[in-house]
Amino acid sequence: MTDLCEIVLDAIRAEIESMKFYEKLAAATKNFLLRDKLAFLASEENSHKRTLHKLLRDIAPEKTEGYENRIAGILAEEFKEPFEGTVSDLLFKAADFEKRSSDFYREKAKLFEKEGQKMIFFYLSVLEDEHYAILMKQYGFYKENEKFEDYNEFIHLGP
Ligand SMILES: [Fe+2]
Ligand SMILES: [Fe+2]
Repeated sequence: MTDLCEIVLDAIRAEIESMKFYEKLAAATKNFLLRDKLAFLASEENSHKRTLHKLLRDIAPEKTEGYENRIAGILAEEFKEPFEGTVSDLLFKAADFEKRSSDFYREKAKLFEKEGQKMIFFYLSVLEDEHYAILMKQYGFYKENEKFEDYNEFIHLGP
């Protein structure tokens, strides 16, 4: 029998990882336009995490308590600091992670028998697809304009 609880824990782990990654990248970014975009992605991952937490409570209330400890300390290799590479490299890595997250949700959705639970996973798949699209747009721009990350002169220009 499929352990749905473990699947949801895996998903929560991935959401926490990507949230932390976007938060750190946002903090390291000089350009506030990019920073806002990354902060937006971090806040979305946080809301995915909250959704999954509710789902976990639905599936296995006894496993909800202290679940953060069970999934702590496991970071995907690509999200370990120090971050190497240019902004466009990091955006591409993040986009790739989003693609895999979307695939994960779409694939695992099939394992849920309850319609509501299945739909949550399908919907998360769509949301991660959106992140992929956002990041690939950003990647396309920064690949051609790597220096824009350093362009923060207008930050000091008040109204
Ligand atoms: Fe997410
Ligand atoms: Fe995402």
